[in-house]
Amino acid sequence: MSSSMNVRMSVFNRELKKSSSLYILVVSCICVLLMVIPYDTNVQNVVTRAEIEDTNNVCPPCEQIVPAVPSLKPPGRRRELMGDDEDSQSPKRQLMLLTMGRSGSTYTSAIISNNPKVFYVAEPLHRLPDGIKIYGKTAVETNAWDIAKNMMTSFLTCNIGALDPEIFESYMYGNSRSTRAMYFCLRNRTASSYKHVKCVLSAWNTCLASEMTFIKTIRLRVQYAEWYLEEFPNLKLLFLVRDPRAVLYSQSKAFGNFNIDNGTAQIAESHCNKLRRDIAAFKLLSDKYPGRMKAFRYEDGALNPMDYAESLFNFTQLEFNEMSKTFVQKITSGYANNEKSNAPFGFMKKDSTATMNKWRHSALMTTVTAIDRKCADVYAELGYKTIHSESELRSSSSLTTVLKSGGIFTDL
Ligand SMILES: *[C@@H]1O[C@H](CO)[C@@H](O)[C@H](O)[C@H]1NC(C)=O
Ligand SMILES: *[C@@H]1O[C@H](CO)[C@@H](O)[C@H](O)[C@H]1NC(C)=O
Ligand SMILES: *[C@@H]1O[C@H](CO)[C@@H](O)[C@H](O)[C@H]1NC(C)=O
Repeated sequence: MSSSMNVRMSVFNRELKKSSSLYILVVSCICVLLMVIPYDTNVQNVVTRAEIEDTNNVCPPCEQIVPAVPSLKPPGRRRELMGDDEDSQSPKRQLMLLTMGRSGSTYTSAIISNNPKVFYVAEPLHRLPDGIKIYGKTAVETNAWDIAKNMMTSFLTCNIGALDPEIFESYMYGNSRSTRAMYFCLRNRTASSYKHVKCVLSAWNTCLASEMTFIKTIRLRVQYAEWYLEEFPNLKLLFLVRDPRAVLYSQSKAFGNFNIDNGTAQIAESHCNKLRRDIAAFKLLSDKYPGRMKAFRYEDGALNPMDYAESLFNFTQLEFNEMSKTFVQKITSGYANNEKSNAPFGFMKKDSTATMNKWRHSALMTTVTAIDRKCADVYAELGYKTIHSESELRSSSSLTTVLKSGGIFTDL
C-alpha cells in the first residue's frame, strides 16, 4: 500500500471517529424504529413499547434511549419477529466456504453470490480491528481467534453495526457485490460523514433482507468450523479443494512470498499437512453434522461449469434459475473478453479449462515430482493423479480421477 494511501486512510479514520457519535445516533434511531414497527401483535413486546413511550415522556429522550441500544441486538430481529406471525419467511441461513488461497474460491463464490438472495462477504478476516493484519494466515495462527469469532458472528447475523469500521479498509470488501458500494463510499473522502453512515446502513439493510449470508475465507481451517456449526443450526459448510501442484504454483506467482521451485519439499509438506488436517476434520464433522457439509473440487467446476453450479445450488438450497445459468455461461466462456479477464484475482477467465491448466506450461518437472512425493496420500483422498513425465505435465491430460463413493465428496 502506498504511503499516500496510508495518509488517506488515517484521515479517513479520523473523520470516521469524529462521525462516530452521529453514527451511534442514527443507528440508534433506526434500531428504535425496527423495534417499534413490528410490535403491535406481540403482547410481551407491547410492554417494551410502553416502556419506550414512557422514556419518551421523560424527555430529553435520546440520552435515555441511546445507552439501551447495545442490548437490543437489532440485526436479525426483524426476521425473528416476522417469524412470529404467518411464518412468511424462512429463517435466515448461512453458508461458509473454507479453502486455501488460489483454489478457485473467487470463481465458486462468484457463482453463488450472483444470486440476489445472498449477502456475500469475501475474506472478512483479511484485516481485523486495531490494524491486526492476518494476510495469508489463519486467525488461530495470529492468536486473534476471539476477535475473528466476533467478526464472523457479526457478519453471519448481519450485525453490521457491531463491526469496527476500520475493518472495511480491506480491499476485499470491494470484491463482493454485497459490500462493494459501502467499501467505495467509505473510501470517498469528499463524501460527508452522514453519507458514510447512510452507506453502512444501506449494506446493513441489504444483509438483513437477504435469505442467506455467505462468507468465504481462507483464514479458518475446517477443524475450527465446529463452533459455527454448533452456534448456527442453519449454517452449511462448503469445503473447496484444488490440485496442490496448481495451488502452490499459483500461490507462488500471485502472493510472491515464496518460490515453489526453491525448497519445494518443505512447502509441499506444510501445504499437504494442512489439507490432511482439513480432510480429517471434515470427516469428523460431517459425521456429526450430516447434510450440512459438502466438499467440492475446483477442477470439476472448471471442466463442467453448469453441473458444478447446479450442485452448488442444490447444496445451498438456492434455486438454480436462468439468471444463474446465464451468469455461469458468461464467466466461463469467451464472452468476458475484457481487461479483467486475465487479472490474477479475476474470475472472468476466457476459458475455464485453460485457466485450470495454466500452471502446467511453466512448471518444473523436478518441482512437480517433489510435490507428488509429499502429497501422494492426499491425492488419493481428493482424486488427483501423480505426473510421471514431462510430456504428461505439458499436455492437457486429465489429472483428476473419478471420485469413488465413501470419500469426502459423497453426498450425505
Ligand atoms: C464522492 O462523494 C461525492 C459527494 O457525495 C460525490 O459527488 C462523488 O461522486 C463521490 N466520488 C466517487 C468516486 O464516488
Ligand atoms: C532459495 O531459498 C533460500 C532460503 O530460503 C534463499 O537463501 C535462496 O536465495 C533461494 N534461492 C533462489 C534461487 O531463489
Ligand atoms: C440437483 O437437484 C435436482 C433435484 O433434486 C436433481 O435432479 C439434480 O440431478 C441435481 N443436480 C446435481 C448436479 O446434483
